[in-house]
Amino acid sequence: MEKKKVTLLQLQKMKEKREQIAWITAYDYPFSHCAEQAGIDMILIGDSGGMVQLGYQTTNPVTMDEMIHFAKAVRRGAPNTFIIGDMPQGSYEISNESAVYNALRFVKEAGCDAIKLEGGERMCERVQAISRAGILTMGHLGLTPQSTATFGGYRVQGKTIESFERTVNDAWALQHAGAFAILLEAMPSEPAGQVARRLRIPIYGIGAGNMCDGQLVIMHDLMGFYQTFRPWFAKCYIPEVIEEYTQYISTIEDIKEHGVQTRKDGLLMIAEMAIRHYISEVRNGAFPNDKYIYPIKPEELEELRKSREWRQ
Ligand code: KIV
Repeated sequence: MEKKKVTLLQLQKMKEKREQIAWITAYDYPFSHCAEQAGIDMILIGDSGGMVQLGYQTTNPVTMDEMIHFAKAVRRGAPNTFIIGDMPQGSYEISNESAVYNALRFVKEAGCDAIKLEGGERMCERVQAISRAGILTMGHLGLTPQSTATFGGYRVQGKTIESFERTVNDAWALQHAGAFAILLEAMPSEPAGQVARRLRIPIYGIGAGNMCDGQLVIMHDLMGFYQTFRPWFAKCYIPEVIEEYTQYISTIEDIKEHGVQTRKDGLLMIAEMAIRHYISEVRNGAFPNDKYIYPIKPEELEELRKSREWRQ
């Protein structure tokens, strides 16, 4: 049976039922195809593609044209998956007009279902303008790689009252401005979970513990494909599926023939198995476990509980 795209209503219902969704980044045809085959809920064409695909040192140099190139290929690989285009630095900060224009490029030229942009209250005007143009818009809070310089580098967020309250306020503002969901990056479970429980819209996490409404992972981290840097909260699933793949391939008599008929004999089969493992671990709550969660000290948590935004 052909896979169906997840709808906004389903995402909302899954939040209400506390069912976790699993999504992943992709930047090209083969990996988006195998993510769809594995049954992924959503795909993000992340500006991280600037680093993991194009070799830039940060996400900042990636251009709108490069993102559209990625996005078109991803749509061809995953025609039945909800895909989100990530607005690169410089494509939305300048004016509402340029933000709406570039968001529309993701939808019209590449067939994206939604866009994502970084920033909270300061970006609400843009979120409102893009949403009013009829484009689903996701916010991105916590560690926002495009503006790391403004908060002193790649740092875990939400551990102090100030940072936690800023995140809650930004999340409220984004929801009010029309965002359909928010991605939280790099935060311990408890403050991230507080944000998820306080907001009506789904709150997803990457490196934000196990109390959000779903998990995102970078494709190249899951595959162990990008060796320059891998955040420790990202789990590589390849070691876990090698045995399964060896077992699977050993049951096939004529591998050459099998490959000709199904093409399920090589690297993409291993990738598909790895993504399936990831999806099932997210759905059954096995990922992320403590090994992949930012720790928070009991005294730090005690302090956070004093915040006026904390609910018991
Ligand atoms: O570009 C990307 O992949 C992202 C994640 C780091 C959240 O925005």
